[in-house]
Amino acid sequence: MEDFITLEQIDQAVDMVRRNTRHQPEIGIILGSGLGGLADAVEDADSIPFCEIPFWPTSTVYGHEGRLVIGKLEGKLVMMMQGRAHYYEGYSMSHVGLPVRVMQRMGIKTLVVTNAAGAIRPDFMPGDLMLIYDHIALVGMVGMNPLRGPNLDVFGPRFPDMSQAYDRDLLALAEIVAAEKGIEVRKGVYICLSGPSFEGPADLRFLRAIGADAVGMSTVPEVIVARHGGMRVLGISGISNKANLDGSTITTHEEVLEAGRIIVPKLVEVIRGVVKRC
Ligand code: HPA
Repeated sequence: MEDFITLEQIDQAVDMVRRNTRHQPEIGIILGSGLGGLADAVEDADSIPFCEIPFWPTSTVYGHEGRLVIGKLEGKLVMMMQGRAHYYEGYSMSHVGLPVRVMQRMGIKTLVVTNAAGAIRPDFMPGDLMLIYDHIALVGMVGMNPLRGPNLDVFGPRFPDMSQAYDRDLLALAEIVAAEKGIEVRKGVYICLSGPSFEGPADLRFLRAIGADAVGMSTVPEVIVARHGGMRVLGISGISNKANLDGSTITTHEEVLEAGRIIVPKLVEVIRGVVKRC
């Protein structure tokens, strides 16, 4: 696999998706670790396994189902990724961004991206939802930016703005929906590390010092690609564990998946409400 994804490769993936769905989706949704349950709510669904789509990065991680589900949610046509691939699985950052490029070529203008994340802020608890109002692209800052390589001018400029990576109106709508449904939500800054090892206590104290509220291993590359292509983005973290700032507890993938079971019903309500009204 080449390091940089080309427009031709993106369009081969688009052709395959188009051939396998009757729908013209308008909203993209990416479901993170343990959060795939929302895909069950999609009606008239066309389902395409990631492994059948040319160049699509497939997830090797337990808890990521690995299929594209295209259909109706709250009367809107959505293209939902049930699972995603990560940089730590060996894909280039450009490759991690391919699914968002496919969404853009299909005409999708709004992206809802979710993830499981560890709480850095001491008052965030497992099971909480955190609406992302900004991110720290630490991995991108040191070179692993999904836009590295030849700029694909059809999508956006060489130096795209990231001043409002997370759309203020969608964020406000998510807060309103959550309040109406009696779901408590937090707001915070998400930081993406490459993983796959979880952070140690000194890593976490550093992340807290630089202003991160929750930590994970995804989302930021996809959001950078989305904003490059001019999409509106809503980001939601499901807090799966408390980050271990003093080294007294351990973090496991099982814990992340278990918290997903508490988070999914709340996440489903918030996303449904936003999709209905956005
Ligand atoms: N660290 C990094 N990624 C994660 C975590 C964490 O604690 N929890 C879920 N994804």
